[in-house]
Amino acid sequence: MLAMDDVALDSRRVLLRTDLNVPFAGDAISDDSRIQAALPTVRQLIAANAAVLLLSHRGRPTEGEIDPTLSLRPVAEYLSTHLDCPVRFAQEWIDGVGVAPGEVVVLENVRFLTGEKADDDALGRRLAALCDVYVMDAFGTAHRAQASTHSVIRHAPVACAGPLLLSELEAIESALSQPARPLMAIVGGSKVSTKLRLLNRLLGVVDQLIVGGGIANNFLAAAGYPVGRSLLEPDLIETARALLERAGREGRTIPLPTDVVCASSIEDAAGAVTKPVDEVTDSEMILDIGPETAECYARLIEQAGTVVWNGPVGVFEVEAFAGGTQRLAQAIASAPGYSLAGGGDTLAAVSKYGVAEQISYVSTGGGAFLELLQGETLPAVSALASRAAMP
Ligand code: 3PG
Repeated sequence: MLAMDDVALDSRRVLLRTDLNVPFAGDAISDDSRIQAALPTVRQLIAANAAVLLLSHRGRPTEGEIDPTLSLRPVAEYLSTHLDCPVRFAQEWIDGVGVAPGEVVVLENVRFLTGEKADDDALGRRLAALCDVYVMDAFGTAHRAQASTHSVIRHAPVACAGPLLLSELEAIESALSQPARPLMAIVGGSKVSTKLRLLNRLLGVVDQLIVGGGIANNFLAAAGYPVGRSLLEPDLIETARALLERAGREGRTIPLPTDVVCASSIEDAAGAVTKPVDEVTDSEMILDIGPETAECYARLIEQAGTVVWNGPVGVFEVEAFAGGTQRLAQAIASAPGYSLAGGGDTLAAVSKYGVAEQISYVSTGGGAFLELLQGETLPAVSALASRAAMP
């Protein structure tokens, strides 16, 4: 891929595709991590005297309709207080927008435009016509083949990869291909079916694989433990058993919880009890790992050379079931090895426990992080690579 650092930017119109799809609580941005991650690239462009058109999506609006609740105007206002340069917001922009060198114009949500999601080639051309240089820096959206992340790359006068995109790719690649060992992965989340490819890939490279959340229930059931009414995908118990057997054959470990936090439902926080893993009753749900298990996993994390974390190990949104995820987040933060965290729920946990600064690399990607970790090539990345290979 051509890198932004190798492109002449002075006085050029740069269309910067970022991922400013940040969570809101009412009208206020509730987590600005993605904006903070995008800022160094914007600052670099301003320092190079580029004229910057900032392009992003927010949420999943119906195309062709303007949904004011998904406008990027509040993000533009936020940016204007964090950048030392003029920042304007453009509601109408697809037919052209004026921008001066050293200025930033934030464009309204690209997903309001018909054809964005379908990767419409004509829309890609119109986006490309806005600029001299297109920079793809939206790692969080690099797994989407859409007009602003994919077809625009074919048509822009110059198309290159931004610094954030490159550092995300590098962080994930180096954690898995040249890790300091032991290499540990923590894979949590509700459904084993959504993480099967990931589990299979990781099992080929890790020394230890900790499974958590609903995923762990399948492994507990496969190992013969009672799981009561816990979230489970019964047709994948055999798959979990096969993964346990493969781990055993190949000298990798998948430690299972020795104690768990249970209740009759997620709503029944008052009824939460900690018990040995073999005492779960028919009416109970497993909603977190217990403290003994959390301490055991924390010790393994402390000894790891590399920790890759994707997914919480309990229902951490509810305090009664948050202890396991909190303990692991703290252990990852204080561990001496290299640590990498990413994925939608994981980022929420990193933010909730305030550990972002102590983790070696926190990815801005949700689905993109997962796809890259499981070995897939992201459409935006392959488009940039094909474009660079063109004569
Ligand atoms: C994300 O939040 O994961 C990215 O911004 C992509 O959003 P999407 O899943 O709506 O494409």
